[in-house]
Amino acid sequence: MSKRLGLLAGLWLFAGMAAMAADAKAGKVDKDKEAALANPYANDLGPAEVDISGYPKELAAGYKLMKDKCTKCHTTSRPLNAQFVELKKDEMATFMKAAGAHAKNENLYKVDDGVWKRYVKRMASKPGCELSKTDDQKEIYKFLVHDSKARKTGDKIETWVKHRKDLLTQFKEKYPKRYVELYSEK
Ligand code: HEC
Repeated sequence: MSKRLGLLAGLWLFAGMAAMAADAKAGKVDKDKEAALANPYANDLGPAEVDISGYPKELAAGYKLMKDKCTKCHTTSRPLNAQFVELKKDEMATFMKAAGAHAKNENLYKVDDGVWKRYVKRMASKPGCELSKTDDQKEIYKFLVHDSKARKTGDKIETWVKHRKDLLTQFKEKYPKRYVELYSEK
């Protein structure tokens, strides 16, 4: 084989291998996407956007990143309508008192001091999430912590509970089996 031909063959082989690796990765991402879509949550039936005009300016970056990076497998409805609220220990007591029985209903609220940290990490570790930069993860995390507090706690408790209950009712009608799996009283 001439030098030139050898080089061409090498290039061809390399391109083929790169394409195969990309296909394998795409296949894995497709699988995750399929799984995410085939296994809906009540969250998915809610809005995928939120009005951030009243939020601190520095959270806009996290909101944008979330819209870019967290929509590969499901919409942003999934994080935005989740039961999760991350509160520090001192915030917890105030919330528990204000929310009363709602706070104990896991279909409405899952509150702890590291829930968004864990979730963003878990999602970022999924193949295809493209969130390798910890700084980007942190921005999304900061946004979700603030947004959950703003829309689910304090004087927003009743608004949130009504919204979440509406989603659960719609979900039960649309996906009765999945509803039992996810949300029926244990
Ligand atoms: C590669 C696909 C993929 C990407 C990208 C992804 N997710 Fe998910 N997400 C899933 C799947 C699949 C589930 C189902 C539960 C699981 O696997 O943990 C899920 C579940 C969730 C849930 C749980 C809902 C509930 O009520 O239990 C939240 C919240 C969530 N994702 C938020 C995010 C955020 C925030 C991001 C961006 C940082 C993100 N996801 C990016 C695939 C993905």
